[in-house]
Amino acid sequence: MTQNIEIAMRMEGITKRFPGVLANDRISLDCRKGEVLGLLGENGAGKTTLMNILYGLHQPDSGKIFIEGKEVKIESPAKAIELGIGMVHQHFKLVDTLTALENVILGIPSEHPMVLDLAPARKRFLSLCEEYDLYVDPTVETWRLSVGKQQWLEILKALYRDARLLVLDEPTAVLTPSEGEQLFKAIRKLTKEGRSVIFISHKFGEVLEITDRITVIRDGHVVGTVPTKEATYPELARMMVGRPVSMDRKPRPSATKIDPVLVMENVQANNDRGLPALKNINLTVKAGEIVGVAGVDGNGQLELAECIVGLRKRTGGSIRIQGHDVDRVMADPSFVGYIPADRQKVGLFLTLTVAENLVVKDYAKPPFTRRGVLRYQAIRQHANRLIKEYNIRTPSSEVQVVHLSGGNQQKVVVAREMSAQPPLVIASQATRGLDLGAVESVHNFLLKERNRGAAVLFISTELQEVMSLSDRIIVMFRGEIMGEMDGEAADINVIGQMMLGQVTEVVA
Ligand SMILES: Nc1ncnc2c1ncn2[C@@H]1O[C@H](COP(=O)(O)OP(=O)(O)OP(=O)(O)O)[C@@H](O)[C@H]1O
Ligand SMILES: [Mg+2]
Repeated sequence: MTQNIEIAMRMEGITKRFPGVLANDRISLDCRKGEVLGLLGENGAGKTTLMNILYGLHQPDSGKIFIEGKEVKIESPAKAIELGIGMVHQHFKLVDTLTALENVILGIPSEHPMVLDLAPARKRFLSLCEEYDLYVDPTVETWRLSVGKQQWLEILKALYRDARLLVLDEPTAVLTPSEGEQLFKAIRKLTKEGRSVIFISHKFGEVLEITDRITVIRDGHVVGTVPTKEATYPELARMMVGRPVSMDRKPRPSATKIDPVLVMENVQANNDRGLPALKNINLTVKAGEIVGVAGVDGNGQLELAECIVGLRKRTGGSIRIQGHDVDRVMADPSFVGYIPADRQKVGLFLTLTVAENLVVKDYAKPPFTRRGVLRYQAIRQHANRLIKEYNIRTPSSEVQVVHLSGGNQQKVVVAREMSAQPPLVIASQATRGLDLGAVESVHNFLLKERNRGAAVLFISTELQEVMSLSDRIIVMFRGEIMGEMDGEAADINVIGQMMLGQVTEVVA
């Protein structure tokens, strides 16, 4: 069989079945030399599975893979790397306690296994940083890096191994807008050098900006491939979801309740590096309203959420929930529903089942426990109800959460936190990594919470969704609230300026 010389990688008829799921159904696609191929599809469509097969993490049940025209068997990531394939995973695989440089060289066979000479590695690492304008301090321990920098590190790691085909699985989900721009510059440089990139993202704007062609996957099979120049937002959305999707502002009854649920006064807190992250925050969220928190990632939003839910110590000020001191009510999870930004580290127990994750907050109470004995039937029934209500795609309630797609893991957290009907909901990047339809449904669930009378704090770096969902909007910049405005009347330009710290006076 003759292969076009332009094709860097081709997959033919890839099928992969997991217990109860046909994740990839005879998928064929190719990626040309020097192009960015976008991979678009709903949560659970099979994108990560397909890329894991390419990277040797899974073996396909059937199908073939060709690299530069030659059929290959990729039985391990080591083999994939040898073939010039690099992958940055949706959930990073760095070792927290190692330095940046150690993570990069981890697993590379050394010529002299007994002596580890870091000097040449360090030199090569730094020259890559410079070449692609992605700087990471090689000596810093990885846990101290922002998620954006961890992403750079994953990319540098692949480039260090001289990847000719780089797979980026939702790279921008964790990047600030300026980091996103930096990434796009690096991607353009890579493709100019003749390397290829497969780019997975749920953000249409980005996919339209950076890719050359787009392959859309739905329910494990390819719906079609379109040249990006000819693609439009509505058409892609329809291909992906199978129905039109709208992101317009949601109609809602006007807020009726006025009781303050969350009251923060002069709250101060430090970040993980011990530097001030919150400076004198004063904020009230009332029953029946959604307060949106806009801002570029890393301006104190994480610390704000963590202080409210009691995961972070304040260095000053007070927080009350329904009049109770937050330090007292934290023992009782029925006060606050929390959807954290980092679902894998904070929100879920990956090795427990979906059903178990759905009851981790209440398993010790009836009906899940009677006379000290867990009642599995009640737990399963509860799980099945939530799976249906929140449209969680899983073969059953007894599957370990680690086997769910990224978006569906997020739905498990949302379902658990909302089903308890708490008076206060803190949603931090709640729609990160979710597909269009799922974003819409999370928005609808939050609105439902609001309409039932919950106070909702909605933290997001996506300005569009803050504007479409919030009754009131505050903007955070460097640990301070830059301004506050009505959600309906908010001006996107004013918010944008505040996000960059350019407006000093408070707009009423
Ligand atoms: N190791 C596994 N064991 C069992 N099922 C799995 C495993 N990995 C993936 N699946 C299932 O395969 C399907 C495809 O999942 P995959 O992670 O490829 O989706 P995705 O398109 O990457 O979604 P997302 O946008 O949410 O990341 C899902 O139904 C998922 O639950
Ligand atoms: Mg995925």
